[in-house]
Amino acid sequence: MQLVINNLSKSYGTKESNNKVLDNISFEIEKGQICTIIGPSGSGKSTLLNIIGGLDYADSGRIVFDDEELTAMNKTQLGLYRRNNLGFIFQFYNLIPNLTAKENIEVCQYLSKDAIEIDELLETLELSNHASKFPNEMSGGQQQRVAIARALVKNPKLLLCDEPTGALDYKNSKEVLRLIERLNKKYGTTIVIVTHNTAISHMSNVVLKLKDGKIDQLIYNTSVESADNIDW
Ligand SMILES: Nc1ncnc2c1ncn2[C@@H]1O[C@H](COP(=O)(O)OP(=O)(O)OP(=O)(O)O)[C@@H](O)[C@H]1O
Ligand SMILES: [Mg+2]
Repeated sequence: MQLVINNLSKSYGTKESNNKVLDNISFEIEKGQICTIIGPSGSGKSTLLNIIGGLDYADSGRIVFDDEELTAMNKTQLGLYRRNNLGFIFQFYNLIPNLTAKENIEVCQYLSKDAIEIDELLETLELSNHASKFPNEMSGGQQQRVAIARALVKNPKLLLCDEPTGALDYKNSKEVLRLIERLNKKYGTTIVIVTHNTAISHMSNVVLKLKDGKIDQLIYNTSVESADNIDW
């Protein structure tokens, strides 16, 4: 297993007004798999994703990625873990407004030893014709594809997506999902997607349904649909 989560718990607040946001979460993902985390607003999805991403700490439990225990790392080690292994995609594209699409991608490339060639990535993401456009000259779907390219250019082992289609209409959502699928196949990237769109769970190997910080349902799918075959 590449990613193992074991009895993970997290609370916010004080002893008097304790808000248990994650309660004893356990699941695992193999390399190259897609995992979808669904559940109502406030159920702990982003908190879980952020802890897997080394952006937040759990109170108890273990996370092991590629045989390294995240939950035993200090800030510096977590920073290295993020730099060496992770790509992030958020709901709002987080592009730098005064850089072109290509420049937005370039600034994320230089830290990596294993970077993907930018022109190859632009082509895979069907962005070649938009390389010199600025964010405000692109559609939402195009901007999200640039954001995906930013996350992918260093060829991360683990791609964490928090509502990657949350700000997109049907057509653009479908396009982004097709791309995520293509990248998963082409580079063997392990992908965790937080979403409100339950249809995405059909293209996932692992589906985690959260409710009030607890696992409501954990499904290990034996077969997955392609992005083309899911609908909502
Ligand atoms: N920094 C924080 N301080 C205190 N409480 C927090 C903090 N971050 C999140 N919470 C609380 O933790 C709970 C889970 O939040 P989280 O953002 O993980 O939910 P979510 O499932 O991602 O929801 P959404 O679908 O609305 O994005 C919520 O009750 C939220 O108010
Ligand atoms: Mg959230």
